[in-house]
Amino acid sequence: MFVKNGWYAASWSKDLGEKPVARKIMNEDIVLYRGGDGKAAALEDRCCHRAAPLSIGEVVGNDLMCGYHGLKFAADGRCTDIPGQKDIPARAHVRAYPIEERWNVVWIWMGDPDKADRTKIEALPWLDSPEWTATPGYLHLKSNYLLLIDNLLDLTHVAYVHKKTISGDPREATTPTKTERVENGVRNGRWMIDFVPPPLFAKAGQFTSNVDRWQHVTWKAPATVYLDVGCAKTGTGAPQGDRSQGISIWSTHLATPETETSTHYFFCFARNFKLGDPQMSQMLYEGSKVTFEEDLVVLELQQQKVDGGSIEGLFDIPNDAAQLQMRRMMRQLAAAEGSVG
Ligand code: FES
Ligand SMILES: [Fe+2]
Repeated sequence: MFVKNGWYAASWSKDLGEKPVARKIMNEDIVLYRGGDGKAAALEDRCCHRAAPLSIGEVVGNDLMCGYHGLKFAADGRCTDIPGQKDIPARAHVRAYPIEERWNVVWIWMGDPDKADRTKIEALPWLDSPEWTATPGYLHLKSNYLLLIDNLLDLTHVAYVHKKTISGDPREATTPTKTERVENGVRNGRWMIDFVPPPLFAKAGQFTSNVDRWQHVTWKAPATVYLDVGCAKTGTGAPQGDRSQGISIWSTHLATPETETSTHYFFCFARNFKLGDPQMSQMLYEGSKVTFEEDLVVLELQQQKVDGGSIEGLFDIPNDAAQLQMRRMMRQLAAAEGSVG
């Protein structure tokens, strides 16, 4: 089940240059590149002449030149040059995908181009703000993207999967969460008062005693998830809004389906402390990657036991409320598009 009318991350901005990149999204072969004008573009990765992948070509000016016989294509998919030929027939074109670059992310629209409303990209200002230092990364995940979003909306797995990284106190397994519907999404969150800090946060915030810890995850359809997480020295007023004795991280997760059973996973910690400090950046980048690789192990094993992304026939517990709401909304969106839900 894919929801095509929505914005998905195709790349981090920093990872896209003039060199064309082949990337499969929702089973479609796409070539991403940046023209000489700096604008990101996405075309079908198949030349309309003899079907060579355009990703083996090169950027010339603002166009992408096929590496086989040199036909050139503009960012809108029109053929602009056929070597040795003056007239360019209108049918010489490839499919172009709507692209928008915002928050240091290259977003792609896989559905009906007429519906590509650029105001619908979720606001993620911490990815592009001098008040936050972001450390983006990428993982290729061999599981359906909904299993990843399930995992992110479920806070109780942290106590079991992330013992070495972001779990510090056994009470995390049983502290209840509160789930609520928000516009176009679901939110789930909780406070943990006077808890042992998790290893990664203890190191980042140099905590030597217990903390008040918060975890608030928001999913926005179709595939944007962000968590407001952090902790502060216990009793310093964080639950009342004073986070000055603590550390805050926006943990962002963009899940882009590659196929029914694989996902491009873009993750990023953005912090509001030790801004620009390269050692802290290295530690948090490595720490977040190791953490999400812990999820990857479970998700890939889980994928081998289910059909596509389906959780049909499995047993639910109260902690699944947020993910069940997410799945219900995704089924509705898919049904509205006419794809199989
Ligand atoms: S296959 Fe692309 S120019 Fe011939
Ligand atoms: Fe996790």
